[in-house]
Amino acid sequence: MRAIAVAHPNVALIKYWGKRARAGNLPATGSLSLVMGGLATETRVQFDPGRRGDHVLLDGREDADTSARVTACLDQLRQEAGVSYGALVESHNDFPTGAGLASSASGFAALVTAAAGALGLRLAPQRLVEIARLGSGSAPRSLLGGVVLLTNRQDTTVCEQVAAPADWPLEIVVAVTTSGPKATSSREGMAQSEQTSPFYDDWVTTHATDLDAGLGAVRAREFEALAEIAEHNCLKMHAVMMTTRPPLLYWTPATLACLHRIRELRSAGVPVFFTIDAGPQVKAICLPGAAGDVAAALGAVPGVLRILRSPLGEGARLRGHAD
Ligand code: PMV
Repeated sequence: MRAIAVAHPNVALIKYWGKRARAGNLPATGSLSLVMGGLATETRVQFDPGRRGDHVLLDGREDADTSARVTACLDQLRQEAGVSYGALVESHNDFPTGAGLASSASGFAALVTAAAGALGLRLAPQRLVEIARLGSGSAPRSLLGGVVLLTNRQDTTVCEQVAAPADWPLEIVVAVTTSGPKATSSREGMAQSEQTSPFYDDWVTTHATDLDAGLGAVRAREFEALAEIAEHNCLKMHAVMMTTRPPLLYWTPATLACLHRIRELRSAGVPVFFTIDAGPQVKAICLPGAAGDVAAALGAVPGVLRILRSPLGEGARLRGHAD
């Protein structure tokens, strides 16, 4: 009753920030994301009939908040399998954890894939979407590969692949500007934004237009149009974050310097645009062939600690399966 799964983090081009319901962890808006195949989480789950409760180690450490979310997902899977065993969960990231690189997305996508495999469950993909979402609102997007659309339905969310990695082989260059974990989790930050940002309602009501524009640009492979709407949507989300009380100011001076550098590059004809999640890292999305120049330019920005490069990747999958 053990299995290992691998999943990649994803970066949203049209983002989600805020919930429409706490129960079921339902996002207020849809979202559109790229799976980053160059960064990976590997999660090993072992159920043991003799174990009471779950023991969760994330990069070798225990964390109460993460453990509670893991148990919430595992409870659903235990119910599906009709068992009550505790599990040992060991998860490792090959990139900085909890620092705006979507480790929760890859982590929960890998968790539900490994746990379902360990229990021998053959669940409908939609059921895995719902269980992964309990752990992290962006995790269902890492169950699939390439460009992924998450949309809201009446009482759930659905995910679909819009383009496979080979359909539009975009590359992502990540400028890491700090390696420490962020002070406020996305979940807490969203709750604060919903209650206190004067821009939150506008963010939600204008979102469907952004999502349609982003989706249309991906389907037509119109990079310039995607660049314009993705940067707008990113800055709008950060306007909501910055006007939250207390403010969620994730950017460092290096974050801002990278944004300027990317805008200069695009003005000079390099096909690249930026996006930033709930952290100070900058993700530069590039057309094939541009990533080398972009990586060199961002690597030279003062305050950039390291550069990661990633092609688009596949969805979560089992690696090893025993018992
Ligand atoms: O999946 P969560 O709950 O960690 O929230 C992710 C929120 C953003 O990364 C900021 C945006 C997004 O759509 O991924």
